[in-house]
Amino acid sequence: MGSCFSARIKAESPSHAGWNSKYGKKGYSSSKLSSPSGFLTPRTEDEILQSSNLKSFSFNELKTATRNFRPDSVLGEGGFGCVFKGWIDEHTFTAAKPGTGIVIAVKRLNQEGFQGHKEWLAEINYLGQLYHPNLVKLIGYCLEDEHRLLVYEFMPRGSLENHLFRRSSYFQPLSWNIRMKIALGAAKGLAYLHSPEAKVIYRDFKTSNILIDSNYNAKLSDFGLAKDGPSDGKSHVSTRVMGTYGYAAPEYMATGHLTAKSDVYSFGVVLLEMLTGKRAMDKNRPPGEHNLVEWAKPYLTSKRRILHVMDARIEGQYSTGGVLRAAMLAIKCLATEPKFRPKMEEVVKALEQLQELKDDDRDRKESLQSHQSNSSSSGSSSHRKYAVEAFNRKAASHPRPLASPIHA
Ligand SMILES: Nc1ncnc2c1ncn2[C@@H]1O[C@H](COP(=O)(O)OP(=O)(O)O)[C@@H](O)[C@H]1O
Ligand SMILES: [Mg+2]
Repeated sequence: MGSCFSARIKAESPSHAGWNSKYGKKGYSSSKLSSPSGFLTPRTEDEILQSSNLKSFSFNELKTATRNFRPDSVLGEGGFGCVFKGWIDEHTFTAAKPGTGIVIAVKRLNQEGFQGHKEWLAEINYLGQLYHPNLVKLIGYCLEDEHRLLVYEFMPRGSLENHLFRRSSYFQPLSWNIRMKIALGAAKGLAYLHSPEAKVIYRDFKTSNILIDSNYNAKLSDFGLAKDGPSDGKSHVSTRVMGTYGYAAPEYMATGHLTAKSDVYSFGVVLLEMLTGKRAMDKNRPPGEHNLVEWAKPYLTSKRRILHVMDARIEGQYSTGGVLRAAMLAIKCLATEPKFRPKMEEVVKALEQLQELKDDDRDRKESLQSHQSNSSSSGSSSHRKYAVEAFNRKAASHPRPLASPIHA
């Protein structure tokens, strides 16, 4: 467990440096926060809190639900604060005994100032209105004196970050198939956010913000930095640069111009982390290898070289065709020019095709097995016919081929 103190590095833009107002009762209720422009207009804090279907919890309720924010119930820690495990009654949503009712995750803001409050409100604004199987569900919030908390559905397998990078017996290395399943789920979540229906830029796509349920479905959480996409006729949103070193797109870092393609770049970084099992940024690696994208890019295009950078823990679990396709997709997402990056819906299609390829591989194995058994026994089952067809289909298809509060 960490210190449960903000790990965010701040490097504010000159125009905003020193903007560090403390909480006060006044000042925020009238501050407008934009809403998903796909279907709503900007709303005030009161409007956001009143219109959402979220439960408003008292601080004491959440204190009881988490057994006084017990240190041994910390699920994780991010830039906003610590996240605790708790229990509530499934009908009344009041605090319940551990092990009864439904399990929740309670995020408690430990960061003072306007930025923390703004992120808390942004999360309620977006997650209170956007519903998708690949977005985490927000159940409620608490606003009491200086307390700011958020209550989510509990995600039993925690974050992708823990699974990829934590070395412990609890976190077994994720298999290739599960990695690709998680990549597809997360891509669907982002594609939904970018769709005309939602029109949201997520802005902080990284492994610690991808949560995993018991069936390895990926769900995006942490909407504190999410932003409305550009309104019609505009090419980008101008913001101060916020995000995470190693994940933020280069043009956004350089200019503050934010587009959905910035999220696509971050997706490419996460995909690369899944392929290599290495963090986007790691100062403990040898010089020249600190930045994963810079180091790995030259290896991604060749069948022979790519195996040098693949995560050794999943060796033998993938086909060369599958790996090359995934790597090609990562390269496209990581294009320096945003216009050469694919849209998230195209990324979803590519990852779906990769799943089909996987199924074909399985079929081919079955086909080979049935072929072998066929040589000793005659007759043909419909199952075998299907497998042989799949084998032929496979044989015919070649593998296609952050002035910036920035999280550390
Ligand atoms: N709903 C949840 N279920 C289980 N673990 C969670 C949940 N929400 C957050 N966590 C854990 O807490 C960590 C920090 O959560 P996050 O929402 O990213 O907070 P922050 O806004 O502070 O970055 C996550 O990386 C994850 O390990
Ligand atoms: Mg986070």
